[in-house]
Amino acid sequence: MSLQALKLDFKKQLADVYESIELNSLLAILFEHVTGWNQLQQAINKDAELNEKQNAQLLEALDALKKGMPIQYITGKAWFMGNEFKVDENVLIPRPETEELVDWIIEYAHIIDKPLQILDIGSGSGCIPIALKLALPNCMIAGLDISEGALKIAKQNASHLNADISWMQEDILNTTYLPNQFDIIVSNPPYIPFKENVNMQVQVKNFEPAIALFVTNEDPLIFYRTIARLGKQYLSSNGQLFFEMHYDQGKALLALFDEMGYHAELRQDMFGKDRILRASLKK
Ligand SMILES: C[S@@+](CC[C@H](N)C(=O)[O-])C[C@H]1O[C@@H](n2cnc3c(N)ncnc32)[C@H](O)[C@@H]1O
Repeated sequence: MSLQALKLDFKKQLADVYESIELNSLLAILFEHVTGWNQLQQAINKDAELNEKQNAQLLEALDALKKGMPIQYITGKAWFMGNEFKVDENVLIPRPETEELVDWIIEYAHIIDKPLQILDIGSGSGCIPIALKLALPNCMIAGLDISEGALKIAKQNASHLNADISWMQEDILNTTYLPNQFDIIVSNPPYIPFKENVNMQVQVKNFEPAIALFVTNEDPLIFYRTIARLGKQYLSSNGQLFFEMHYDQGKALLALFDEMGYHAELRQDMFGKDRILRASLKK
């Protein structure tokens, strides 16, 4: 079958699963990944026959797309702050709202204008610490995750992107010791209560790692409270905490940080929803 015929066939087979605009963009990414041809080259080569390996790769991807697997897990790649990151089933796919969190830290670091010690808790693919290191090369950056599989990917991404990061495998909920004082502790922790699982998109709940997404229904703010407690001991003077959060936890988090002796402020994402938070200890 020619490239064009294959694309038409895929469109037909996936029409019930995806909206047409989304489907066009998924197929553009998939065919570029398999053929190595960009959109223009694909148009020029529309009558080309693909080889056996490419056809097999496409059929496997078609099956995965039918089941709702995110395209990033099919291609093994995701973009974050202009860089390509390797992803697999051990890591969350980096999100655009997390770029806003990183932007806020970069903005803050530029104001402070000195080399900072920064710790990222729950690094996943490594997108936060690596993007920070690339933007703030004079800062010392550490990344921590409970997941061995995630750290393996994070290390590969750091090496590929030439970002010098110190990595630690720790369960932050059971950690009482950090190896340093930090000027900034940042985290995009798991924050979705398990009970919300039923309302979530198949693409997220069936494919992204549960350990990256969910917290107990009984204590959905446990990561924030734990990190705020550690911050009291391990933040340097004027140290700052930065977090990503569930859009409807803003009020509860402001109350939690206030109670724990921090000033906290929220920022909204591009959709106007509370999404990121900064906190520093009250003087
Ligand atoms: C929401 S994901 C964030 C991943 C990445 N920072 C990002 O923004 O794409 C949360 C991360 O926290 C890690 N994590 C979950 N429980 C943890 C724990 N108790 N201690 C340390 N890391 C944990 C998960 O493995 C996952 O990589």
